[in-house]
Amino acid sequence: MSPADISSSPSSSSPGPERDNFKTLEQFIIEQQDRFPHSTGAFSRVLRDIGLAAKMINRDMRQAGLIGVAGNTGTVNVQGEVQQKMDALAHQEFVRALRRGGECCLIGSEEHAEAIPLSSNQEEGQYIVLLDPLDGSSNIDVCVSVGTIFSIYRLPDGYDQTEPDLDAALQPGTEQVAAGYVVYGSSTMLVYTTGDGVNGFTLDPTIGEFLLSHPQLTTPDRARIFSINVGYYHSFEDGLRSYLDWLQEYDPETDRPAKNRYIGSFVSDFHRNLLKGGIYMYPATQGNPNGKLRLMYEANPMAFIAEQAGGRASDGHERILEKSPDTLHQRTPLLIGTEQMVRRAEAFLAEEHSAA
Ligand code: AHG
Ligand code: MN
Ligand code: MN
Repeated sequence: MSPADISSSPSSSSPGPERDNFKTLEQFIIEQQDRFPHSTGAFSRVLRDIGLAAKMINRDMRQAGLIGVAGNTGTVNVQGEVQQKMDALAHQEFVRALRRGGECCLIGSEEHAEAIPLSSNQEEGQYIVLLDPLDGSSNIDVCVSVGTIFSIYRLPDGYDQTEPDLDAALQPGTEQVAAGYVVYGSSTMLVYTTGDGVNGFTLDPTIGEFLLSHPQLTTPDRARIFSINVGYYHSFEDGLRSYLDWLQEYDPETDRPAKNRYIGSFVSDFHRNLLKGGIYMYPATQGNPNGKLRLMYEANPMAFIAEQAGGRASDGHERILEKSPDTLHQRTPLLIGTEQMVRRAEAFLAEEHSAA
């Protein structure tokens, strides 16, 4: 294409009627809400608060190296991991936005040991939000994509919403009413589901709005990306090692060898695989028999999205969404993405088990 072709191309990114025709996240949320005649709007407002906090985090992150929020805080969080300044800031932005909104009665965050009750005296304070405020945060200092993951539950009957019991947050993933993530990448996207498909919104920084850019997202059936930290190869279970060996064999008929892509930012790896097709794995290792990722605010929300997009998520043996949680910060092995790839990984794991 010559420069003249580029400037006259209809797909040129110059502002025009097409670009101005997008639906905003708020419009979309309100339209969805209108489908339920007795809806109070409280749930829509929780989503709005999350979108607002995401925009604030995006703003701070884009200038991290300039406004003194790069680097770590010098403290170790409840996971035993070094807390980045942006981890702490992102956590505060979410707590502030959800407290201000008034519809959320309980927050569970990676950056706080206990669930945080929000003493809401409003009748609407009936939602529980679990989140990883910033995922992959050690990547910020090197300008690599990071994310936010969130999961929304309803406060179960029998709990006092002005003083919710912290155990109310421990519900299986099947009970999620919504889940989503924000990826702060070369562009910033918010992707979420309420159990009726998956929709993606791209932030237009010039007007500060998330615009519907990826309606009804589905993940490709045919896929050849695998994402895993192969540095741990020798500490994986035999079945998983066999699966990784199989993926790397030469057999063009079955799209092998597969391509390896691993950013080390779960949200970014998941987002790429959702759009292009692939499997993300953080399995059990010798040192970490339960894997690394957290069930309640990493695996469950992404599993809900993966399934809604036509994919699958398991811990190698059991569907992630059916696991019953014991603690807010518990970890789980995770295989997630294109259904046939996840099923094949499970089969390799099962074979080695039955052979043992
Ligand atoms: P977080 O920054 O929220 O603690 O998450 C980091 C996670 C995840 O984003 C990533 O996929 C994984 O850690 C990478 O771990 P390894 O360095 O062990 O591969
Ligand atoms: Mn994380
Ligand atoms: Mn995190």
